[in-house]
Parts: sequence; structure tokens; C-alpha cells
Amino acid sequence: MGTELITVLDVDTREEALDLVRACGDCKFFKIGAQLFTRCGPAIVKEVQALGKQVFLDLKYHDIPNTVAKAAKGAADLGVSLMTIHAVGGRRMIEAAREAVEGSGTRILAVSVLTSLSDEMLRDEVGINETAESAVQRLAALAVDSGAHGVVSSPQELPVLRAELGPDALIVTPGIRPAWASRDDQARIMTPRDAAAAGASFVVVGRPILKHENPAEAVRMILEELNV
Ligand code: C5P
Repeated sequence: MGTELITVLDVDTREEALDLVRACGDCKFFKIGAQLFTRCGPAIVKEVQALGKQVFLDLKYHDIPNTVAKAAKGAADLGVSLMTIHAVGGRRMIEAAREAVEGSGTRILAVSVLTSLSDEMLRDEVGINETAESAVQRLAALAVDSGAHGVVSSPQELPVLRAELGPDALIVTPGIRPAWASRDDQARIMTPRDAAAAGASFVVVGRPILKHENPAEAVRMILEELNV
């Protein structure tokens, strides 16, 4: 499989979300996160799917295994293609999520360490005496070993995670900026072409598409980069 594009629907309303999906032309995957889902609920997932698109439900579940399993089953019943859990929920939680989606088309992705956390915050606030880099590798390996289909990874971690997790794991990478786009607030970025070359299964792109005067054209240019 080549590298697929996921467009981010980080908006507050159903109308904005559906207008964006319609504007994004050839993009097949759309990410619905806590912002949109909290306002619009499962109905927005169904409406995006009704436009012929696939949904990445990015709600980052982290709870006891039973609760995460029930939520994962709910996501699978909604027919989402991808969903996220937190790897720090531990092996039993990850296994329970995987079992809950077995037989469906839903794939589980694990989030390891949020990129908003520095080494100092991990140590002093969260109580993890390990660099973020080492925690990311450890948690990603735990997640895939426990049945997660893949992980979410920053561009910085992508090459080492691809080497560590092997060719079959899904790796989904935000922080993507085509050469023609603004960096916005992203500190460490990669172009779609470089992310594809480094082994990303999916790239997650927001503002370069959403702020472009012609989102369908932005999608077309990114897809072209991914397919060379
Ligand atoms: O607009 P932009 O392309 O920066 O959007 C990237 C998307 O990926 C946003 O939904 C953002 O929350 C998400 N994300 C990120 N960096 C992470 C994790 C998630 O940019 N480390």
C-alpha cells in the first residue's frame, strides 16, 4: 500500500465539516477528533461516510480495559476505518481494544507520548523518568506487541519506528508540511514526499489544505507528492 492522505476536520460545526469534505476533492480519509465529535456526535461520522469518505476517529481512549473495549466496539459498529487509544493504558487495555474490533474493518492506532510533553514535563509532572524519545519507542513496541494495528508518530520518530515495528504496522504521521505551505505552529515538520519515503502509511494534514484557497488543488498536489 502507498501512503494515504488524511485531512483533519478540526472545526466546531457540522456545516463547516461537511463543506470541507465536499471541498477536498480526491481525499478519501477524514480525521474527526474530540473537538468536532463532542459537538456533533456519531451523526457526523455517518454524514462524512455518506459522502463516500472513510473516517479516522481520533478520540484517544484511555480507561479501564472493559470500558475501552466497549468504546472500541462502538467505533467499529460506526464503521470507522481508524481509531486511537493511548498506549499508556497498558497491555490489557490494548488487547481488549483489539479483541473488540476483531472481524470489523476498524484498525487500532496507539498514541505513545503526546508531542506537547517535554522530557522535563514527563519527569516532573507525569513521573516518567525516561526521555520522550525512549518512552515513544517502548510504548509503540508494547502497543503493537499487544495487538494494536499501528501507531501515531511525529515525523521525527517515523524512521526509527518504521525500523523497529517492521513493514506491517500502520504508522500515521501528523506535522506534515508541503514545501509550498506555511509551517504554522508545527516545530518539527516533514514534507509529504519525505514522510512517504520514510515509511508513513498515512499522513495527517490540516491547515495546508484547509487554509488553501483551493483545497481540492492542495489535496491533488499532496496526493501527487505521495505517489512518486
Ligand atoms: O493543521 P495541521 O496540519 O498542523 O494539523 C495537524 C493535526 O494533527 C491536528 O489535528 C493536530 O491536533 C494533530 N496532531 C499534531 N501533532 C501531534 C499530534 C496530533 O499536529 N503530535
